[in-house]
Amino acid sequence: MSIRLKLALILTLGIAGAAAAAGAVFLHLERESLRQAEEEKVRLVLDSVRRMAEEAALGKDPLMLLDYLAFLKKDRPEIQHCRVELGGRWQDVGAVPAEPAGGMVARAVPIPGGSAEVRFSSEVLSRREAAALAATVRLVARATALVFAAGLLVSAGLAWTLTRRIVLIEGALTAIGEGRLGETAPAEGSDEIGRLARGVNAMSARLKELDELKKTFVASVTHELRSPLGAIQSRVSEMASDAAFGPEQRRGLEAIRASASRLEHFVTNLLEAAKIERGKLEFTPKPCRLGPLVEDAALFFAARAKESGIALEAKVAPGLPELRLDPDLLTQVLSNLISNALKFTPAGGAVTVSARTRDDGKALLCSVADSGVGIPADAMARLFTPFERIRNPLKATGTGLGLAISKSIVELHGGSLRAESEPGKGSTFSFSLPLPT
Ligand SMILES: Nc1ncnc2c1ncn2[C@@H]1O[C@H](COP(=O)(O)OP(=O)(O)OP(=O)(O)O)[C@@H](O)[C@H]1O
Ligand SMILES: [Mg+2]
Repeated sequence: MSIRLKLALILTLGIAGAAAAAGAVFLHLERESLRQAEEEKVRLVLDSVRRMAEEAALGKDPLMLLDYLAFLKKDRPEIQHCRVELGGRWQDVGAVPAEPAGGMVARAVPIPGGSAEVRFSSEVLSRREAAALAATVRLVARATALVFAAGLLVSAGLAWTLTRRIVLIEGALTAIGEGRLGETAPAEGSDEIGRLARGVNAMSARLKELDELKKTFVASVTHELRSPLGAIQSRVSEMASDAAFGPEQRRGLEAIRASASRLEHFVTNLLEAAKIERGKLEFTPKPCRLGPLVEDAALFFAARAKESGIALEAKVAPGLPELRLDPDLLTQVLSNLISNALKFTPAGGAVTVSARTRDDGKALLCSVADSGVGIPADAMARLFTPFERIRNPLKATGTGLGLAISKSIVELHGGSLRAESEPGKGSTFSFSLPLPT
């Protein structure tokens, strides 16, 4: 759940909780005041009985009080029964009713020469109180719902405002994580979020600086290494052909040559990757046919394949159309894919390089399929990451840069490179090159 949604929920719940609590307190107070109002009504009835009894005593007319009580009993539904005690004798006003379901509350009133008693129905009293309370509950519920709706709107607005800058910082961090160094977030305000944005921006600028430094460093170091390496290689070749060296020395020279060659491969790949990273790779496309490039590459590796006991075959569909491509760069891709296939296929296996028009006719499809060790499913995603080498039973050498470079070169041509593999059965690397429409 996003922080924006969480904040909106928390604020809404807070507002709703406060509104509900206020409603509950209000209802409690209202119930209290309703009870007091009912009490007051009972007290007024009893007062009126007392006053009527005093008037009846003054007029020496006890019937007056009895009539009044009969009237009250008829007029007030809450009065169940009344009786008067005069001269030590109780006299009921009307028939004595049966005890009602909710019980009765008997209240005595002292009157001149005796007392009167009025019995109220508890049920009628509490029903009247409940009806008044229900009306208040409805009002409070309506008010709470209104506050809740307003709270929801206010919370959503508040959550959006408060988290807007956090979301922008998150976007900048995601971009930096994806490699878009130098990306910034708006550094507004002097609060913690503003300071966080400024920190992220400073980090992003520093990372960009360091990245530039790294690229320049790698490019210049690899560039500087190439000339002395070339000199070592040519000198070693010269020495190897010198008859003055015996077999022992020749073995030593061969070891130096192999190491220098590995180092040269590494330096070349590193330089190539650095050029791609800095956007400085020379890309000079020209109208070209893919078929001969595929056949030449396969031919180049024929000797190595034979040496490794692998059947290498090139299958080029006839009449492939011409398209604009950089033959040197594409040869580099084919070389890496074929050399990988040979490296990761044991003796007795097969490697097939093929080129054809894609079924939809919109691109040329070139693939290098082998019957080698294959690649585990969980490693497929990192296959094209620089320096990534997947563990497998065949201990082949390499820098782990070939596929990353190949992918960039294919993408430079507007195509895409993908891999399919089944561990133990083999792999197929294929790339497409879009044909002009
Ligand atoms: N055909 C293949 N079969 C099995 N694994 C492969 C195959 N092609 C590539 N891989 C795996 O992918 C990794 C990366 O290949 P990549 O070509 O980038 O590097 P490399 O061949 O190790 O070194 P480099 O090409 O730079 O000399 C390899 O180390 C290997 O583990
Ligand atoms: Mg390789």
